[in-house]
Amino acid sequence: MENQFLGNQNFNISHQVVSATCPSNIALIKYWGKYANQIPANPSISYTLNHCNTQTSMEFMANEPFSVQTFLAGNEEIKFAEKIEKYFKNIEPYLPWILKGKYIIKTENTFPHSSGIASSASGFGAIANCLMELDKLFGTENQEPRHKTKKASFLARLGSGSACRSLYNGLVVWGKTDEVEGSSDLFAVKYPDSEIHPIFKNFNDWVLLIHEGQKTVSSTVGHGLMNTNPYAERRFQEARENFIPLKEILKSGNLDKFITLVEHEALTLHAMMMISEPAFILMKTGTMEVINKLWNYRKETGNPLFFTLDAGANVHLLFPENENSNEIKSFIESELLQHTQKGGVVKDVMKF
Ligand code: DP6
Repeated sequence: MENQFLGNQNFNISHQVVSATCPSNIALIKYWGKYANQIPANPSISYTLNHCNTQTSMEFMANEPFSVQTFLAGNEEIKFAEKIEKYFKNIEPYLPWILKGKYIIKTENTFPHSSGIASSASGFGAIANCLMELDKLFGTENQEPRHKTKKASFLARLGSGSACRSLYNGLVVWGKTDEVEGSSDLFAVKYPDSEIHPIFKNFNDWVLLIHEGQKTVSSTVGHGLMNTNPYAERRFQEARENFIPLKEILKSGNLDKFITLVEHEALTLHAMMMISEPAFILMKTGTMEVINKLWNYRKETGNPLFFTLDAGANVHLLFPENENSNEIKSFIESELLQHTQKGGVVKDVMKF
């Protein structure tokens, strides 16, 4: 039990409708593998996105029997409601009023539902923000803004690990590491802006929708398979160690080293999937085509276009926004877009 986040038993509930939004994020050093109670096996760091958001409204009907109804883009989602009910029961010590009513939760994503872009990060981030709004109205919450964001991050983590990083802009760290002051396994913290070279503050993330639709293996199952992966400990160690060069890279603005580290992290994530038991592969032919073309392009032009991947086939194309970025954008449009299933691309930027 985390004492600093325990809720106050003196509350005064009433019928309320609150709403909140939360952006998605893309990890650079990946979280892949966890212990009980959503404790990550290694620290991770992500960029918070700007356009990929979830908007959520939450109606709370006080003193009705506890139940949750959820709608995604207007359609009722029974499975999601079951997940949220379980989640709310789990976080009751931190929000003691939470089971004392009925909920109708409506969510919309700014990115296409079937895009394969992870909605759990922005989704649980938005739910955590709504819960903190209710907590404020019911008069139990410590109103200090920094505490509020920290608790929202703590609550979001218990819904989906990567969600805890979406509560802050910029670069965000989740998981204890000596390299980042204040970092914790329980909630995310902002990586200090003053330690980030300007080149990393104006960055694009264009997500190529290589494969739209359900993934064959969920992240939660994938994390679980790290428990029996013979390379898991080595991987966790490497992720921890990667914070040391990354810190230096972020400070100095060394883009070449950044590219090497970020692509290595993405490929390691997928390598872990391939050597799980049972093995699985989430990359598709289009993923490989894009990676190979991108590598050739970088070799020939020297232009800093590189990629990361999340737990799916889509490719996140990363490149700094500057006087050369138009050339990169034309290359993406003319050469890479053709490898998407339906021509889909989400053009996002990092939110600072
Ligand atoms: C590959 O946060 O979706 O995107 O905690 O089980 O909900 P749960 O998993 P989730 O895992 C995300 C994994 C990743 C890497 C990352 O975001 O760090």
